[in-house]
Amino acid sequence: MIQIAPSILSADFNHLGRQISQVEALDVKILHIDVMDGMFVPSISFGMPVIASIRKNTKLFFDVHMMVQDPQRYVEALAKSGADMMTIHAEACHCIADTIQKIHDHNMKCGIAINPDTPISAVESYLQDADMILVMSVQPGFGGQKLIPETLDKITALHRLRQENGWKYLIEVDGGVNADTLESVARTGVDIAVAGTAVFGGDIESNLKKLRGVIAD
Ligand code: DX5
Ligand code: ZN
Repeated sequence: MIQIAPSILSADFNHLGRQISQVEALDVKILHIDVMDGMFVPSISFGMPVIASIRKNTKLFFDVHMMVQDPQRYVEALAKSGADMMTIHAEACHCIADTIQKIHDHNMKCGIAINPDTPISAVESYLQDADMILVMSVQPGFGGQKLIPETLDKITALHRLRQENGWKYLIEVDGGVNADTLESVARTGVDIAVAGTAVFGGDIESNLKKLRGVIAD
């Protein structure tokens, strides 16, 4: 069964704590948290002080997607803020192997993200050690974009590689997941589907119900 991970990028920041409690009460287990630095991606979202303060309010698993240049600089600070998983971008990090080690040393799970144009070969040597591979299905930086269907082929390939090699990483897809696209996403064998606007745009409870209805069919 695919897990839906709501992305708080599309939440109402004026009511952030309340909206997080709401998804938690609706049996969500994973919260997707998008950190953007204005360098690796054009926009700036929020950083560790926000993560540390929402940490006090919830037991949800914090899946932190670091859209930042040289993410190795932030391992300590992110661990301190209460993140459970730190996902770094393959395109943004020059020392991926060391950074995976550092993230694990700080008792966090480690994810590696790849942009729509980045091939799986860019992360092949880390598949054994990564806890998750995040396949971007839109260009990173903004919520509410349209899913690029070709990116889904990478999920199918990652699924096959995992089976063939007995690897353990989870596979996550991020960008443009909604009630219309979720069916084709689900067919790829993905484990976690991030959804921002499709969860927080409008009524959260009926949005989640609609998404789960697609997976249950
Ligand atoms: C985009 C972020 C996504 C974003 C997804 O750069 O990484 O997590 O919140 O938003 P939707 O689901 O609206 O495409
Ligand atoms: Zn994200």
